[in-house]
Amino acid sequence: HRVLFVTSEIADFVKVGGLGDVSAALPRALQVHHDVRVLIPGYPQVINGSWPITVVAELPGRAEIPSCRLGRIELPEGLIVYTLICPELYERPGSPYLDPQGRDWSDNDIRFGRLSLAAAQLCEGHDRHEPVAAPWQADLLHLHDWQAGLAAGYLRWSGVTTPCVFTIHNLAYQGLFSRTSAARLGVPDSAFEAGGLEFFDQLSFMKAGLVYSDHITTVSTTYAREITTPAFGCGLDGLLADLAGQGRLTGIVNGIDDSWNPRTDTYLARSFATSDWAGKRANTEYVRRSFRLAVSHGPLFAVVSRLVHQKGLDLTIAVAESIVRSGGQIVVIGCGEPPIENALRNLAARFPGAIGVSIGFSEREARCLFAGSDFLLMPSRFEPCGLSQMYAQRFGSLPIAHRTGGLADTIEDGVTGFLFDEMSPDDFQEAIRRAFRVFGATDLFYAMRRAAMAIHYQWRLSVQPYADLYSTLVASDRVLAR
Ligand code: ADP
Ligand code: GLC
Repeated sequence: HRVLFVTSEIADFVKVGGLGDVSAALPRALQVHHDVRVLIPGYPQVINGSWPITVVAELPGRAEIPSCRLGRIELPEGLIVYTLICPELYERPGSPYLDPQGRDWSDNDIRFGRLSLAAAQLCEGHDRHEPVAAPWQADLLHLHDWQAGLAAGYLRWSGVTTPCVFTIHNLAYQGLFSRTSAARLGVPDSAFEAGGLEFFDQLSFMKAGLVYSDHITTVSTTYAREITTPAFGCGLDGLLADLAGQGRLTGIVNGIDDSWNPRTDTYLARSFATSDWAGKRANTEYVRRSFRLAVSHGPLFAVVSRLVHQKGLDLTIAVAESIVRSGGQIVVIGCGEPPIENALRNLAARFPGAIGVSIGFSEREARCLFAGSDFLLMPSRFEPCGLSQMYAQRFGSLPIAHRTGGLADTIEDGVTGFLFDEMSPDDFQEAIRRAFRVFGATDLFYAMRRAAMAIHYQWRLSVQPYADLYSTLVASDRVLAR
């Protein structure tokens, strides 16, 4: 089948978090089953990237959504990416979502409305590059997070029956806009109601994705259950519980791609295999040197994270002094909310030689930290899946994490990492104490390392459920009565 994978990030060009990794890996892994192509906005990193772009179509606008050109790029492994050439919406400095001052772009409704509308239009066959007799036309849309959610609505409003799968990577970001956006986006008045995309008098892209898609997935089984409850449902738990009751909400855990391999990773100070602990230690020493930490025989704890409330850095900051007093050291790479960035900088200033903080985004540094650390601190309040803990395990760093979402599904407490139950500094502290004890019991510590490194969260395992879901939906030609 021909599947269009609609996303706001792909690691080949732009990655803010795990969505970028998933969008780069999952379509490639799915190629063996289906003809999967990706649609992304034409950010500067895409337009000025090293891959040539062929213009294949003009896509009409709607209401205040401008028309734009559709570009086609062929990436390694034969992955075809469509991009939207629309300089007035996408060719700006800053991140896909935020301006350089860290505020949401004020026209994010139009920017991602444009992405969503283009996805719906690609179900009609627009790629002039393909033979006229058989233009590429999506048989199924796979939409990711709120940025793509409106595509399901556009399809339904124009009576197109192409099936849609909507994947929730993070329910906390919903794409809420004032009701005046509806007219700007060409959303019919009849859709602005409780059974449509209205959410407490606002327009919700996320809700459009949930209401108008045929099937919803999210990225772990525990999170799929959690979001049907008020504590994790972000106000959408009622709707999600209904979908679950109808068998239309399922959890499929993410995988990681082959590039996350300590034996072959060229970013590392030294590559290493399981049980080559001298090789791993070379990476630890490298990290200590580059973060100007003292020579030490104690454990090295790492944080690799977006610096946002979700990730529970307040807990990490609360336990940092005790880690240092117990002979541990901490290294951090991350960026995000300025107050968290500042709190971490202050911590590094208070404990020079024991805590090193690098505010920024660097793939190389992230990989060096996974490889060099003994433990990864990940006390997330909620975690739809989480990739960092899987990368850490693969590189022999044991995650210490809150028992929630994908963390609960991918870490076996006392075997491949450590879990704590209550989101409190005391509970986190207790898990860290256990980690210190294991670090001191070398045989057990190495056994846990080996167990963590032996796990294979390959996409191969997660790909089959997606491939099957696509086939079922295309065959049934819309599950929803339209
Ligand atoms: P989320 O998507 O919520 O940020 P995940 O754990 O799923 O969480 O994915 C985070 C991804 O982003 C991982 O690949 C992680 O290594 C990467 N990452 C996070 N912060 C940084 C950073 N400052 N520099 C480099 N990579 C980072
Ligand atoms: C989101 C979630 C994270 C997940 C990632 C990829 O950013 O916060 O838990 O791993 O998406 O699905």
